[in-house]
Amino acid sequence: MRIDLIAKKNWTGRVLVGFMFDGDKTPLAIPGDEGKGLAAVTAGERFTGQFKKTSLLRAEAGASKLILTGLGKRSEFELDRVRSASAKAMKRAEEIGVESVGVLVPDGKEVRGELADFAGAIVEGAILSSYRFNKYRTPKLDEAKPIAELILVFANTKNLSAAMRKAVDGAAVRSGAICFARDLANEPPSPKPPEKMAEIAAGLAKKGRITVQVIRKAELEKLGMGGILRVGAGSHQPPCLVHLTYTPAGKSKQTVVVIGKGITFDSGGLSIKPWQGMETMKDDMAGAGAVLGLFRWLGSVDVPVTVHGLAPFAENMPGGGAQKPGDVIRHYNGKTAEVISTDAEGRHLLADCLAYGSTLKPDLMIDIATLTGACVVALGDEYSALLGTDQRTIDRLVVVGKQQGEFFWQLPLPARYTSHLKSKVADMKHTGKTGVAGTITAGLFLKEFVGEGVPWVHIDIAGPSFTKEDWDYTPAGATGVPLRTIAALLKGM
Ligand code: BES
Ligand code: ZN
Ligand code: ZN
Repeated sequence: MRIDLIAKKNWTGRVLVGFMFDGDKTPLAIPGDEGKGLAAVTAGERFTGQFKKTSLLRAEAGASKLILTGLGKRSEFELDRVRSASAKAMKRAEEIGVESVGVLVPDGKEVRGELADFAGAIVEGAILSSYRFNKYRTPKLDEAKPIAELILVFANTKNLSAAMRKAVDGAAVRSGAICFARDLANEPPSPKPPEKMAEIAAGLAKKGRITVQVIRKAELEKLGMGGILRVGAGSHQPPCLVHLTYTPAGKSKQTVVVIGKGITFDSGGLSIKPWQGMETMKDDMAGAGAVLGLFRWLGSVDVPVTVHGLAPFAENMPGGGAQKPGDVIRHYNGKTAEVISTDAEGRHLLADCLAYGSTLKPDLMIDIATLTGACVVALGDEYSALLGTDQRTIDRLVVVGKQQGEFFWQLPLPARYTSHLKSKVADMKHTGKTGVAGTITAGLFLKEFVGEGVPWVHIDIAGPSFTKEDWDYTPAGATGVPLRTIAALLKGM
């Protein structure tokens, strides 16, 4: 999507979007009699600025049209509403069939918070909602085409500053990274085996201050990464570990390790899933996809921290070499685990990476994984679970996530439940009791691999990584969660 910023007097387009608060007398950026007139007309058709509602007006005698989009009550305002309202307006514009849309940016006095954030959210709502995964389908002739050009129209030209341009570009870059992460997870499973993912990851080193190292089978063996190797052993596609590194231009304030589960397809292995459970398992690499997306973003921005990305890739298949229930897996830190179900595979990749990541002495280690079906049962499909030892970061993720329209909720990591993992043949079993606290016991398992004193947060994205229905500005399919929040977290460090 092309993005432009212009002064209102220079705007000559056909469709203009304006925001309106429920309860205001005029839309934002259209003050005075003109605004009052518009508000009066829309009130007649029962539009008063309600959140997620739009109204289409032929404002002038010419062909130009105005779409008003509701932000709801001022008292309920939060930035994420701008993304939703922007997306609703784009949808309306798509239906009209235009390629280019102007959006009236309010004046700073009219909205709470930074105006640059408001403008950024307009751009995000537009780009993220226009996303399509059309690689394998032919769009129908009568299908609405996504908007190709977004013009931010400023009534107050004082706001048309270099800082505004930078904020808007930043929002576009971040949205692009999210679309990239969505593409990876939406891609069907067969064309994206581990080696293909490694190739895509290697391509990320071309931009910015990023290096990429791919650790393949022979080296994984030397390192003793039994988790990645055993999970990958049931497929003819060998597993690998991608290690990406971002070094800041200035002084590095901290080191952060971000790990993402990269199961390019989860059949369950020998503990094979029923077909219904496999339908969306191409998305079982969404954690790793978010890590690659994060580095795509890091290729174009400055953050004051060193970031290591660890993306272990494997295909969980029931081939002849596959791990078996009853097997014992030895991980990078030497700890062994008894396999109960080969479908609980993700934790073994993460275990190797958490132990390996700990040797990098991070100030913060985050892992992101479509880890447990139990998480979807507990929190539904819009909330990710947070578990870990770094309470400060957990609290921050909840707050930042809400601003970003990504939702998180903490689950406990009670030491009392560690007994669920007791094994007679290995240091521990890899799962707890059937049907009991599945997300928590998975978290407790992972904790065993986090180095002493390393602040750690585990994010279970089993619910929100993929949606079968359209959300406000997230079309059905892979969502890119929690990339927006992690990017905001790093930016704020
Ligand atoms: N990838 C799945 C978890 C999952 C399920 C993600 C549904 C998204 C939607 C994971 O590898 C898995 O199969 N976990 C098992 C663990 C069980 C065997 C302890 C599960 O949740 O059933
Ligand atoms: Zn599984
Ligand atoms: Zn899985």
